[in-house]
Parts: sequence; structure tokens; C-alpha cells
Amino acid sequence: MTSRTVVVTGANGGQGLAETLMLATAGANVIATDLTAESSPAVAEAALENPRRIVYRQLDVTQSEAWAALARFIRDEYGRLDGLVNNAGITRRSRLLEATPADLAAVSEVNVTGALLGMQACLPLMASGASIVNVGSVAALSGHYPVAYTASKWALRGLTIAAATELGAQGIRVNSVHPGFIETPMTAGANPAFRDATINETPLGRTGTPEEVAAVVHFLLSPMAAFVTGVDLPVDGGQSSHGGAKSVSDALR
Ligand SMILES: NC(=O)c1ccc[n+]([C@@H]2O[C@H](COP(=O)([O-])OP(=O)(O)OC[C@H]3O[C@@H](n4cnc5c(N)ncnc54)[C@H](O)[C@@H]3O)[C@@H](O)[C@H]2O)c1
Repeated sequence: MTSRTVVVTGANGGQGLAETLMLATAGANVIATDLTAESSPAVAEAALENPRRIVYRQLDVTQSEAWAALARFIRDEYGRLDGLVNNAGITRRSRLLEATPADLAAVSEVNVTGALLGMQACLPLMASGASIVNVGSVAALSGHYPVAYTASKWALRGLTIAAATELGAQGIRVNSVHPGFIETPMTAGANPAFRDATINETPLGRTGTPEEVAAVVHFLLSPMAAFVTGVDLPVDGGQSSHGGAKSVSDALR
């Protein structure tokens, strides 16, 4: 990743923080972005240790003017952009009969519109060899119970494949990673029954870490994945792989 410049959204904590740290360690210049004016202490500490590699900028991914300002900053400071990680995301855990239009609008605005605006703002700075990674979810591969979140992640998956199709001719790759249950601030507040039931459906028998997702994001951003585009890559311990066969297999052990 040496001399490559990458934007990570939602970088203050969770997976975005892990991606920021891993990409900077791999030699990339990382523009870590999130909602707050000041970064989280973890990003601030990493930026202090490595001021040339990690720069924090405030960015609400739903705001096109904020994306335009970020793109101007990147053009002035770096001249070009080699990678974009659309990691920022929110969830709503309401089920089918409780989900409101406001739930659907809120998750769509961040999880789908945010990624679209990000690609639109960053693409003029990208050339052949650049790579975009959109962070989906196993919800985008299944009938996950929180309907608004699930619908938004299916939409993001569609957006990703459409972008990969459109941008291939320019040599720009676009892929999805689909995390399973990852231990982050987002899942810290989840019902313990959700965690336990997910582990039961996961062949590797555990939850994942932010670093395990970051490693796959790193791969997809790097030239090692030069012929990989339009891919849905689960990082879920096998949760999405078995189509329900695990409980059958477990019952017959
Ligand atoms: N944790 C999991 O189990 C899991 C599973 C599947 C998918 N995901 C996805 O992974 C991504 C990262 O999630 P996480 O678990 O690290 O969550 P997290 O809540 O720890 O981090 C999400 C980050 O996004 C930021 N954010 C929210 N709205 C924003 C906005 N409008 N503009 C900019 N930043 C914004 C938050 O401030 C936060 O720092 C999300 O897209 C999430 O949907 C997470």
C-alpha cells in the first residue's frame, strides 16, 4: 500500500478504526473520516504516532457538500486517490411489523446514499488501479430480521455491482465485504440472544474481530486483488455459506 492514498469513512471506532490502523501500517496515507469535529482518542493517538500516514477529517457521508470539501482537500494535499472504504453505517433493529418509514429512510441515507455520494465525489480523483470497498453485511446475503437495515445492505450490494460493471473499463475495481457478527460498538448493544444464535449458525463457532474484516479490506484495496471486481466477499466465519444446513448437521452429530 506504500504511497497509496485511501479514504475510510466511519473511522472513529469499530471496523473503520481497525482499517485505518492496518492500512497505515501497510504504508498507505489514510484519510480517516467520521461525524465528529475531533477524532476519537484512538484515531488521534494513531495520528500523533504517525502524522504523515493518518489524517483525520470530519465527514458526514450523507452530505454532498462535505464530500466535495473532502475531495478538494485530497486534490490539494495528495493530488489523487487510490482507495475508498465506504465503511460508515448505522443499524435499526426494528422487525417487519414495527419498522417505520423513518427507520428505512435513516439507514438508507447513511448506508446507501452515503456510499453513492462517496463514489461520486472520489471517482474524479481516481485512475486505473484504484479500488473501492463497500462494507455490506451478511444481512445483504440473507433474510436478516432487522428489515430496514437488511433492505439498505441489499441496496448497497446492488449499487456496488452496478459500479463495478460501470467502472471496469477505467480499471477501477469495486467490491463488497460482508461482515458477520463482529465485536464493535455497533454490536455491543445487541441482544445477547442475537449473538448466541449467530454463533450457533457460524461454522467457525465464534464472532469476528474488526481486524479480521480490515485484513480483507486491505487485500481488496491492494494490487494483490488486481483482477478482483464485483465480488461479494463474506467475512463471517462461514455464517452465510451453508444455507441452513448447519443446524441439520449439528442435530445429527
Ligand atoms: N459489527 C458488525 O457485526 C457488523 C456486521 C455486518 C456489517 N457491519 C457494517 O460494518 C460497518 C462498520 O460497522 P461497525 O460495526 O464498525 O460499527 P460502529 O458503529 O462501531 O462504527 C460505525 C461508524 O460509522 C460512523 N457513522 C455513522 N453515521 C455516519 C455518517 N452519517 N457519516 C459518517 N460516519 C458515520 C459512526 O460514527 C461510527 O464511528 C457498517 O457499515 C456496518 O453496517 C457491521
